[in-house]
Amino acid sequence: PEQAQAFIDEQVAAIQDQVGDKKVLLALSGGVDSSVVAALLIKAIGKQLICVHVNHGLMRAGESEQVVDVFQNQLDANLVYVDAVDRFLGLLEGVAEPEAKRKIIGAEFVRVFEEEARKVGDEVSFLAQGTIYPDIIESDGVKAHHNVGGLPDDLQFELCEPVKLLYKDEVRVVGKELGLPDEMVYRQPFPGPGLGVRCLGAITRDRLEALREADAILREEFDNAGLTQSVWQFFTVVPDFRATGVRDGKRAFDWPVIIRAVNTVDAMTAEVPEIDWAVLKKITDRILTEVPGVCRVCYDLTPKPIGTIEWE
Ligand code: XMP
Repeated sequence: PEQAQAFIDEQVAAIQDQVGDKKVLLALSGGVDSSVVAALLIKAIGKQLICVHVNHGLMRAGESEQVVDVFQNQLDANLVYVDAVDRFLGLLEGVAEPEAKRKIIGAEFVRVFEEEARKVGDEVSFLAQGTIYPDIIESDGVKAHHNVGGLPDDLQFELCEPVKLLYKDEVRVVGKELGLPDEMVYRQPFPGPGLGVRCLGAITRDRLEALREADAILREEFDNAGLTQSVWQFFTVVPDFRATGVRDGKRAFDWPVIIRAVNTVDAMTAEVPEIDWAVLKKITDRILTEVPGVCRVCYDLTPKPIGTIEWE
């Protein structure tokens, strides 16, 4: 904590020095890195920071609301909330191929953010990013990282990347020291395309909603069972085929929900934890009674390799 405080003081001074009285733009997803950078910049330059949160309709239950609550209500940030749900879901309609879905979501995200950047236009000179040290290493050949590059050339910003020399656990300590809530600081990894790659095949609103509700139940029950910090990543998946069931004496033909939970160090290999049977049964019961259109629950036992962590 003392080291984190020293880091914060040092970065606040460096940011004030770099930015002066100019404005800074930041894409605030609600993930650990962008949230910590936002909190750091708010401390340094207050409302000279303009945060843009794009709700693409593929966030987990309550996440966009939390971003607004923490940054707008608690930290009094200059926050632009963009409801782009219909835009994203419209473009994704009928698109089933996973990489095509990823490309559409990524490209549309840049487009929406670019529109917001143009609106605040001339006043803004800096773009802040939650780039962390592993991003810099990884973008060096292994895989293109979304924080490095991606915006069109005619948008001229100087970069402000105050946590680029930190590892993830160090970013969390800084976030904690800045007063961000635990759910944000210890948030599990969540893919940029969000629930879009967990609602398998062509996304439909009914399955997306079932996915979101089942995921919220899973998170609540893992939390109740004390598993939130001990399991690395856990989520639900809804496939694009139906299964037969019986409900109220009548044949049902509804969606299955698949529970995926993994432990890993670096996401390159992963193991499936042995979750207490009673916890899995409770989650199953709740999903089957509370989520409309679902008639079956499965637990995925596949390690990585051979299965990837995500289903798409
Ligand atoms: P896989 O499925 O490749 O996932 O075993 C490894 C880790 O990466 C996350 N992941 C993504 N993150 N954009 C992201 O930002 C993506 O398209 C994406 N695909 C997978 C996944 O959640 C896991 O933590």
